[in-house]
Amino acid sequence: MTWTPSDWRKLPAKHIPEDYPDAAALEAAEARLKGFPPLVFAGEARRLKKRLGEVAAGNAFLLQGGDCAESFKEFHPDNIRDTFRVILQMAVVLTFGAAKPVVKVGRIAGQFGKPRSSPVETIDGVELPSYRGDNINGMGFTPEERLPDPERLVQAYSQSASTLNLLRAFSQGGYANLANVHQWMLGFVERSPQGARYEKLAEQITKSMDFMEACGVSPATVPQLSQTEFYTSHEALLLGYEEAMTRVDSTTGDWYDTSAHMLWIGHRTRQLDHAHVNFLSGVKNPIGVKCGPGLEPDELVRLIERLNPTDEAGRLTLIARFGAEGVADGLPPLVRAVQKSGRTVVWSCDPMHGNTLKTGTGYKTRPMDRILSEVKQFIDIVSAEGAYPGGVHVEMTGQDVTECLGGAQAISEEDLSSRYHTHCDPRLNGEQALELAFLLAEKIEAAAAAGGTVTRQAS
Ligand code: PEP
Ligand code: CO
Repeated sequence: MTWTPSDWRKLPAKHIPEDYPDAAALEAAEARLKGFPPLVFAGEARRLKKRLGEVAAGNAFLLQGGDCAESFKEFHPDNIRDTFRVILQMAVVLTFGAAKPVVKVGRIAGQFGKPRSSPVETIDGVELPSYRGDNINGMGFTPEERLPDPERLVQAYSQSASTLNLLRAFSQGGYANLANVHQWMLGFVERSPQGARYEKLAEQITKSMDFMEACGVSPATVPQLSQTEFYTSHEALLLGYEEAMTRVDSTTGDWYDTSAHMLWIGHRTRQLDHAHVNFLSGVKNPIGVKCGPGLEPDELVRLIERLNPTDEAGRLTLIARFGAEGVADGLPPLVRAVQKSGRTVVWSCDPMHGNTLKTGTGYKTRPMDRILSEVKQFIDIVSAEGAYPGGVHVEMTGQDVTECLGGAQAISEEDLSSRYHTHCDPRLNGEQALELAFLLAEKIEAAAAAGGTVTRQAS
């Protein structure tokens, strides 16, 4: 049977809004999007798949991060630059610790739509539809704002296009040159303990580069030192938008979703016989699947068979998100089942979505100690099963926000209100993100020193 990008429409779908007041306007917006240029090229998605294949084999590490939800309000070149440079800094720390290439993937240039735990929100006895992301409706608590508006899809496309354009310039136009390793430091991180630690590392890199330059190897002669590969990703939630961006690649004749290099299926939409799995089974991009509480080992194996029938390396990244308290029980049976199946996957850890709590004052937050604890447990668990803990997936920003508790700055419950800007879930700020990178680097180094090897059991 041949797959087409609209097949999902015949299937049950969760978390896709059905309350657009004007169905014809939605159709017209999707038709316009179909005629817009692709945001990424199939060849780029294939290159990312190859890189992720290297991660699956244990020879590289995946760093995926960015906003929980991008917004029209926070759209600013400085915000894009700051998120990009924190990812570069984290990657430098990880490359040094892991002594492996780091594959950098942003949750950016398309990460707008959100699945919500409840379709409605009630404030002071008034009930309105929930905010679902800026590409669907508005955050303001009024009936007008909460009405889905198809024009928002077009605005999200346009914001994604210019965000991606700037990211391409940053990664290839000189900003990511390793010789700038000192300049990536953000002002507010500079004065922190993580900043001092980073500065030391940057010093070592500069020394190594001076040495290499004396040997004739420099950013002028080796493009890997003056440029970086940076890829984009988002949750493929709004399938009408994704369908409109899906095109046949003229080189291979295959379908690619050109809205981002990598797409993932969320924790709430991974039902085998539903729309989201059907849609992503048909596009050839590298894809991710969030794996959390409630996912049975045999269901996971069936998902893998469905989404990657030819066992292509780099096609599938499994993103575990159990929470610091659930990972020790929830993750081992999944890793074991995958090992037993002999299938090739990247194991990545999302230490954010299982660690969210609400404070007494009503702020959604995440404690750093739980985030760090989940990452540490993830590495131990995956290694103990003979698999390779290949990546992390985090919600972070380059802005100096106070959204997650703890870290070296010891952000307290009282501090949260000072700079709480997220449009959805709480993000690590630049300093907390660096702290996580240092912890990861240490942990990976220790695992390598302990002689961790990657093996896949034959089925
Ligand atoms: C997310 O990544 O923003 C998200 C909603 O995650 P999950 O699907 O794992 O809950
Ligand atoms: Co989130």
